[in-house]
Amino acid sequence: MKSDSNKLLEVTKLEVVYNHVSTAIQGVSFNICEGQIFAIIGGNGAGKTTTLRAISGFLNSDNAVITDGEIKIRDRSINMLKPQDITRQTGIVLVPERNKVFETLTVQENLAVPTSIGKRAKETIQNIYTYFPSLYERRKSLAGLLSGGERQMLAIGQAMLCSPELLLIDELSLGLSPVMVEALFEILLKIKADFGLSILLVEQNAMEALSIAEYAAVMENGMIVLAGTPEKLMAHEDVKEFYLGIRGKEKKRYKDVKQYSRTRRWWG
Ligand SMILES: Nc1ncnc2c1ncn2[C@@H]1O[C@H](COP(=O)(O)OP(=O)(O)OP(=O)(O)O)[C@@H](O)[C@H]1O
Ligand SMILES: [Mg+2]
Repeated sequence: MKSDSNKLLEVTKLEVVYNHVSTAIQGVSFNICEGQIFAIIGGNGAGKTTTLRAISGFLNSDNAVITDGEIKIRDRSINMLKPQDITRQTGIVLVPERNKVFETLTVQENLAVPTSIGKRAKETIQNIYTYFPSLYERRKSLAGLLSGGERQMLAIGQAMLCSPELLLIDELSLGLSPVMVEALFEILLKIKADFGLSILLVEQNAMEALSIAEYAAVMENGMIVLAGTPEKLMAHEDVKEFYLGIRGKEKKRYKDVKQYSRTRRWWG
């Protein structure tokens, strides 16, 4: 990882509890540097979305709270900030899971929403269309009629209009064809380079996520069980077996290996 001098986000010993009883995140720590793509991979229920909700301030709506640990951006603690203040004051912008676009508004109207709620965007809608020509072609269509890939483009476009410095992207690849996923990741790389953004990607699609990340972590049961460069993760036997589907003789699938056995394996 790059030196601490360009550290953007610092998550330390984060713990999140739903409904006062259910601990979804158990002591998670990681840093994201300026201009870095950081990927968190993990299966269903691992705690990926909860982590993004904690960082973007959206836990309360799900009756969840941060019970321990700290989230800092540029050395400023944001544990107590409201979601709108996190976006406005820190430039952390969430692209939520299953792309929540406004289905009864047109593409153009959807893109106008961030500016209409008083967000002074550095970007113009016209500039966003240069990254997503297919959205321009469909600018007068209702967002509800867009394909899954186009909806993801629209959700990213909306996020870009909130002047992000750190984009949190939840399951970009969900339900999309490999060709569309590759195209979206290419656009993301271009956006990152042009705007100098940092990106936190959470993905079940480990192969795709590791192909564009500079640093990555594996999350299981609310804990980070392995972290390192994509090369390091891709060379790890358990990542190969459970997340990349590369199985040798007698190897088992992730869901067939009980948690205690997996934990023993991760920690070697
Ligand atoms: N609104 C909620 N109320 C109670 N528990 C929840 C809620 N949302 C998530 N959880 C629990 O928190 C844990 C982590 O869930 P989370 O949605 O963060 O996982 P995830 O890694 O994003 O999974 P997926 O890949 O399926 O999206 C799970 O055990 C889940 O059941
Ligand atoms: Mg999720």
